[in-house]
Amino acid sequence: MEPQQTDNQVVNGVTPDKSTNVNVTATNERHSSNDATEQQPARGTDVARARWTILRQVLKQKQVDSEKVPQVSVRRFSSFNLFSRSRVTTPDPDNPSEGQWVDYQSASFPQYSAFLRDNLGPIRVTEVLNSFDNTGNVCVWPSEEVMAHYCLKKRHMFRGLSVCELGGGMTCLAGLMIAVCADAREVILSDGNEKAIQNVRGVIERNRQAGLFTCADVSSRVVRWDSESDVSALESCFDVVMCADCLFLDQYRASLVDAVKRLLRPNGTALVFAPLRGETLAQFRLLAERAGFHVCQYLNYDQEVWDVHTRMQSEGKDSYDESLHYPHLLTLTQGCGSTLSL
Ligand SMILES: C[S@@+](CC[C@H](N)C(=O)[O-])C[C@H]1O[C@@H](n2cnc3c(N)ncnc32)[C@H](O)[C@@H]1O
Repeated sequence: MEPQQTDNQVVNGVTPDKSTNVNVTATNERHSSNDATEQQPARGTDVARARWTILRQVLKQKQVDSEKVPQVSVRRFSSFNLFSRSRVTTPDPDNPSEGQWVDYQSASFPQYSAFLRDNLGPIRVTEVLNSFDNTGNVCVWPSEEVMAHYCLKKRHMFRGLSVCELGGGMTCLAGLMIAVCADAREVILSDGNEKAIQNVRGVIERNRQAGLFTCADVSSRVVRWDSESDVSALESCFDVVMCADCLFLDQYRASLVDAVKRLLRPNGTALVFAPLRGETLAQFRLLAERAGFHVCQYLNYDQEVWDVHTRMQSEGKDSYDESLHYPHLLTLTQGCGSTLSL
């Protein structure tokens, strides 16, 4: 399939909002420090100012009610509805930290489902200030949902392979679905955020106990793309590395490319799902090509996802912004042939 072009819109990152969960973006990260409440972004665009308004409001425990917030929120469109979500009983209801479990069932492949905790409650001020990125603790982003659906559809191609998900957030839904459906040799679910991985650990345990994994070797760990020790510990270990919606962080894009390259075996393939988000996907692609990857970009890779996309374009103009919400698929290979046949 040939790469296809779509419109670009300049939006540098994400600022999810929810009434109870409020999150801070890469803008926070770039300027994070103990006096974060007082700082303003170096380049004072309206969007960046609005993000800082959100951060100030979080820190002051206020409702996010500024008129500017909806302009920068990307949660207006939250799902391609590829999975149904139903509440299930909590294994230890007396333990409040256990949280609410849900059963995620694929709409297209209903034989596959997994137990998740996808609501970690409000993000606390200390977390905003002390952890480097919380975007993966807010929700399952549409790109992750789409990647999970795509992996279910293409499950046969992961058979016997070693797979690592990077930046999978609090559920690592796509990697989890591979663990459930694909007879993979090994699946490692990772993120750079400790709280996200704590949740993933519990998710793995619950699904293992429920006997839902077809893969015998499923684990999770904190992997920061910019950490030499995290990356070198997994060097050349994987046939497949994948990530969803991880390209918008300006300061980590190059280290993400580097991590993908080092984690992959020479004939490995990276699957990257992400919306354009301004120039951010194009910038990632450029860095990947400079690093020696052969990159293919796919716009229409799944009929169901495409149908929702085209319907939203005509009927959901108020909430759906292609640049923010429609994930493109990039495949990265290194010219040594690929273990993965798409
Ligand atoms: C927008 S979230 C996407 C989460 C998940 N893939 C999804 O789509 O629901 C971006 C994720 O990248 C992770 N991340 C950001 N910078 C990172 C870094 N330098 N190393 C590892 N993970 C990082 C964050 O912790 C977060 O979970």
